[in-house]
Amino acid sequence: MKKYLRFYGIIYILILALIIGLGMLYLNNINTITINKITPPVFNTITVKQDDDLPYVKGSMTPPIEINKFASSTPELTAKGKGIYKTQCLSCHGEDGKGDGIAGVTLNPKPRNFQILEGWTNTPDFKGMYKTLQEGVTSRGMASYSNLPPEDRFALIHYVRTFSDKYPKITDEELTELETTYSLSKGLKTPNQIPVSVAEDKLIEKYKVISDKIKNSLISINENKNDKGAILLKENSGDLKKVLTSLYNYKNWNESENQFISFVNNYTVQKGFKSTVTQLNPDEWTVLFQYLKNSITL
Ligand code: HEC
Repeated sequence: MKKYLRFYGIIYILILALIIGLGMLYLNNINTITINKITPPVFNTITVKQDDDLPYVKGSMTPPIEINKFASSTPELTAKGKGIYKTQCLSCHGEDGKGDGIAGVTLNPKPRNFQILEGWTNTPDFKGMYKTLQEGVTSRGMASYSNLPPEDRFALIHYVRTFSDKYPKITDEELTELETTYSLSKGLKTPNQIPVSVAEDKLIEKYKVISDKIKNSLISINENKNDKGAILLKENSGDLKKVLTSLYNYKNWNESENQFISFVNNYTVQKGFKSTVTQLNPDEWTVLFQYLKNSITL
């Protein structure tokens, strides 16, 4: 019996050691274990649709208006709205506002049914509809009507509101909000806007030009075995590519030698230079500056 007990005692210690061992193993690898558990963000064509980008917006200038004059519906306003609706909206939203116009048949999602107030992308209140007309819901097939003067848009909204008696009352708060958002009483200047993807392409294009220049400079500097300037540059660069990148991306260093010296002395190492560069004598500075000024065209 005693023998067995001793045996159990050993097993107990072994198991304990095993647990401690595994625990330490776990702790040692905790970084990899937890890193692997974090799902990497998925940036693919399914989650980021082209449509999610900013639309092209042509900048415009809207004349100032007094919003309170358009806050309540009048027969004149609704009549005006009806006229515009017929020419601009009916083809999609339909005669009775049911979203059943012929131009909307093939659209998915369907044009909004103005008789039903649920499931709108923007709110079906006065300010939500104004937002829709200003910005559009372009990713869903509803264009921006920011080209229409605000008066016309208010008239349209009053007409759309006649399709149901369930539209919420127009509140002073939303009028104030509209006023602050769109500075209606001051008039609104909308700047041009381009989609982010286009802006990115432009940056990439610009970057490509610079990166080609850098490549060519690298080649010519390395080929230039006898030029004193090229030699000084190589001797004093920790990372020549970085040096060239900073030179090509900052525009003012080549205006004067002093400007160049202060450019180099500022964040020297971050710009790819060795700190030895700061100890160049005046002649060497001149040689280096002249060499770069002549060989790097910004
Ligand atoms: C080419 C078809 C088309 C035309 C023309 C059109 N719309 Fe739309 N409209 C749509 C579609 C599609 C939607 C649905 C958007 C959504 O589901 O978010 C929509 C939605 C709306 C909405 C609701 C947005 C929301 O919050 O869900 C309003 C308000 C609206 N349109 C007003 C107008 C007015 C006013 C006009 C005329 C000046 C007009 N639309 C012209 C297709 C059109």
